[in-house]
Amino acid sequence: MLTTPQRRRVNRGIKRIEDRLMPPACRTRPIHMFVDVTSRCNIDCVMCWRQFAFHNAFGDMPLETFKKLLPLMDYCESVVLQGSGEPFVNPHFLEMLELASQHTDGIRFATNGTIMPQRHAEALVRNKIRTVMVSLDAGTRETYEKIRRKSNWDHVMGNIERLVKTREQMGATLPEITLEFVLMKSNIHELGDYIRVAHRFGINYVGVRHIWIFGEATRQESMFMYPQLMKEEFEKAAQLGHELGIIVDLPPQSEVKIAEDYVVRELNDPILNKMSESLFVNPGPGKVCHEPWRNYWVNWNGDIHPCCHTIRKMGNVNEQSFSQIWNGMAYQLFRENIRAGHYPKECIGCRNLQTPDGK
Ligand SMILES: C[S@@+](CC[C@H](N)C(=O)[O-])C[C@H]1O[C@@H](n2cnc3c(N)ncnc32)[C@H](O)[C@@H]1O
Ligand code: SF4
Repeated sequence: MLTTPQRRRVNRGIKRIEDRLMPPACRTRPIHMFVDVTSRCNIDCVMCWRQFAFHNAFGDMPLETFKKLLPLMDYCESVVLQGSGEPFVNPHFLEMLELASQHTDGIRFATNGTIMPQRHAEALVRNKIRTVMVSLDAGTRETYEKIRRKSNWDHVMGNIERLVKTREQMGATLPEITLEFVLMKSNIHELGDYIRVAHRFGINYVGVRHIWIFGEATRQESMFMYPQLMKEEFEKAAQLGHELGIIVDLPPQSEVKIAEDYVVRELNDPILNKMSESLFVNPGPGKVCHEPWRNYWVNWNGDIHPCCHTIRKMGNVNEQSFSQIWNGMAYQLFRENIRAGHYPKECIGCRNLQTPDGK
């Protein structure tokens, strides 16, 4: 009988072979799981992709659905317990953390940081959650509250402080707390203030992500439209990060993230259209996507998708067993197409497109 770390190592070892062969049916289990514990949210961010017709319904994942995923977590190097909504809105979220932490030490999730009473902070420390990413797309109250509508800057600052203090009082190093910033024309000038907020809390990693374009408003906010300004602000942010000893994880300046092909057509932008066409045929020299072999993306209602950029359904955990889904017809066809270089257009600009050796 293999122990959990041994099982994980064997799974990883065979996965390396599958990375090269890209078989339509897999011998291995997923190494990363993404569980959208809820698609509901308590606030209303201007840029949030929940507005995009990705979901035609909103709801919480029932605890029973979540429990079906636990055995798979033994194989996972990371389990991301969030997707489209605010995880703490699910009334079972603390119980889910408790259960999942008995199967994996790789739990991570992003949160808007608005729901963090003492009980929650203690549960995060007690369950040794690996990373809590607090989304903070500004460095000042004014900009923050314009972007994160219905949230309150002081309240969120207090919650971050509570988590930092609780971790300290409990003598723990986990969870690692990081900040996340969705880059927009209307907040890029606050990158410096954002980095200083991190410094104030002793946070040493901040992420910056391009906005995912799903309509005209998000396109106007994309820094893809303002390359010179982006270059200058990135240089300043990198310099400040260096001075303060903070890792500032900036996205590639050429990257652009666009939702679904019909949006591209709707926007009718010649540059985006060109990118879209070329990607459909070929994602770029030597680029390949391994996500359908590595990841398991579980929607709140139990639907399985091969990654977060596509709504193509591979099955449902409430209706089928893991192996019926993982090596079922839909997954095999999807993998076949990827292996043949037939990428769907939702893959445009995706960071996961890698060279075959996985770099
Ligand atoms: C959808 S949220 C769910 C988790 C949680 N509610 C939060 O705000 O962190 C996950 C991440 O997506 C980011 N996000 C939302 N809309 C986005 C967009 N249009 N482009 C890129 N990232 C976006 C959020 O800032 C957050 O870091
Ligand atoms: S808090 Fe997260 S899920 Fe809620 S609206 Fe904002 S980005 Fe979207």
